[in-house]
Amino acid sequence: MVERELREISLEAMAVLSFAHEAKDRYAAGHSRRVTDIATAIGKRLSLNEEELTDLKWGSLLHDIGKIAVDELTINKPGRLTGAEYEHVMTHPIVGASIVRPVAGSKSITEIIEHHHSHYDGSGFNQKLRGEDIPLLARIVALADAYDAMTSPRSYRPALSRDEALSEIRRSIGRQFDPAVANAFLEMSTADITPGRRRILVTDDEASIRLLVRSILGNEYAVIEAGNGQKAVEVAQSQHPALILMDVLMPEKDGLQACYEIKANLATKDIPVVMLTAIDLEMNKKLAANWGADGYMTKPFTPQELLDAVTQFLKSTPNS
Ligand SMILES: [Fe+2]
Repeated sequence: MVERELREISLEAMAVLSFAHEAKDRYAAGHSRRVTDIATAIGKRLSLNEEELTDLKWGSLLHDIGKIAVDELTINKPGRLTGAEYEHVMTHPIVGASIVRPVAGSKSITEIIEHHHSHYDGSGFNQKLRGEDIPLLARIVALADAYDAMTSPRSYRPALSRDEALSEIRRSIGRQFDPAVANAFLEMSTADITPGRRRILVTDDEASIRLLVRSILGNEYAVIEAGNGQKAVEVAQSQHPALILMDVLMPEKDGLQACYEIKANLATKDIPVVMLTAIDLEMNKKLAANWGADGYMTKPFTPQELLDAVTQFLKSTPNS
């Protein structure tokens, strides 16, 4: 077996290990995959060559592998970390780099892992390099990592919307983020950021349900969220997801009304809408169908039931 193949297999095995560890943390499930999509999109926009893009992919997929060595209770602690706990968690870039170094075959991969928490202005925790001295690929992953963290919920705060996260990035240009990397990212659309991954919009006023759906589907799909029917109608129009999962009872605008408006709009009428409800009544299914819904799912559902339903509904729709 050629050395290159052996290296790929070793890195692949490490990535699987990292995904498995990530899946245990309900806030981090799918994180490395999403960071890789975002980092790759930025890398392409900055015209990186094939070799750099490959290193960027492995560095992104493995950037948090060092968390395997971090105490589980600290990682999953609800609420903010104490100073000592933060210091402990922040050993993961160095630990991760040393785990991957023997098989990486490229200095760039370990550099990404080691420096992915570095701030451009040098103000990050215990960091040694600043500005252009931080390897470019690490500066890219730092931004992708921060964006995904901001747009994912935490135990102590809800997820920021895409626009809120973009404003935060804009405010931190030159401080936390490299201006060239941040500007390349700000110029991109959602479609650029999640290439090849189909977008699924989950609409539910309960953050815990949105989080659950996101953690089940996040590895395979780009999950976007709306907290009420009105927002769902707007997001359907602006981001054109491949499928919409819609709660029925919601404040402001309920799911049936939102479904009706999505189906009445020429730009969004072909997006399948699957209603999610806690009440399994034949009458409700008929009602949902009358308002234009394509399907109906009863809560609670198992992860496999949700994955199966999504696969089934996406089969009938073209890529978007
Ligand atoms: Fe990290």
